[in-house]
Amino acid sequence: MSKLTFGAGIWHFATYVDRYATDGYGPAKSLIEMIDLAGKVRDLSVVDINAPWSADVSVDEVEVALKRNNLSVIGITPEIYNREFSKGAFTNPDAGIRRRANEVCNDAANLVRRFGASYVKLWPGQDGWDYPFQVDHKQLWRHSIEGIGELASQNPDLKFVIEYKPREPRVHMSYGSMARTLLGIEAMGVPNVGVLLDFGHALFGGESPADSAQLAIDHGRLFGMDVNDNLRAWDDDMVAGTVHPIELFEFFYTLRKNNWEGVWQLDQFPFREDCVEAADMAIDFLKHIDASLDRLDWDALAAAQNRQDAMGAQKIARQALFGF
Ligand SMILES: [Fe+2]
Ligand SMILES: [Fe+2]
Repeated sequence: MSKLTFGAGIWHFATYVDRYATDGYGPAKSLIEMIDLAGKVRDLSVVDINAPWSADVSVDEVEVALKRNNLSVIGITPEIYNREFSKGAFTNPDAGIRRRANEVCNDAANLVRRFGASYVKLWPGQDGWDYPFQVDHKQLWRHSIEGIGELASQNPDLKFVIEYKPREPRVHMSYGSMARTLLGIEAMGVPNVGVLLDFGHALFGGESPADSAQLAIDHGRLFGMDVNDNLRAWDDDMVAGTVHPIELFEFFYTLRKNNWEGVWQLDQFPFREDCVEAADMAIDFLKHIDASLDRLDWDALAAAQNRQDAMGAQKIARQALFGF
């Protein structure tokens, strides 16, 4: 039994549509079917659920499905990025739509209370701009900050996490980097907003995920994390550890070094793969990372870093992770 807690976004078990396969990569699944698939993954304990979900599934039915699969809810992700919010949620030019975004997020907050979850996960994927001259940048950023600040003040008993990403679907997302997100949170001046650091989004943004994690921890704002992998040019959401194992190792090294405790959560989109196998693969690799951290020569690594000895540090990390 692992001492770690593993989680996944419930969308890991969905079927997907993109702008080419508009008929989807498989038959659509209900939320209950997705929960039952999540229950087949070895060592999965928590899930993040999008809300609202379809009206024909009740909260009670979701609760029963979670229970029979030994799952609990870590977060609720309000759907503030679909058609209604195509010009933005908190930054929509229409004040009525901005109000709707606030309502959808408050509904998500009530679900967090109902499920005893840890946070409302905000992913304002449509908040931003596409073209030069399209927006007044000062106003857009002010709306980004005020919209989330207001939510946090309305729900002081709950935590809110912002998951930043450079782009997609918006060409420029308002919360596009770790530094920008931390600046926005500081401007809100509230204690209950933090960052959910998605390893793949940091890679995609040209960041070092380990450095981004350290920055958020130093500001007391690392409230959650997601792992996956990509080729750095897009948010591919591939299986964790398949492309950037050494950077993933440095990321978890940084978390352990800071005694950061939280769920190791998967945010993967297995378009063409078996979703249960993809989750098992990732979790097996994450367990290997954890065991590698136990094997790591921490003192020798610290000494190598003090000399900025790149090859020396690599040898120590490589020995622990790959065994040579
Ligand atoms: Fe994510
Ligand atoms: Fe993503």
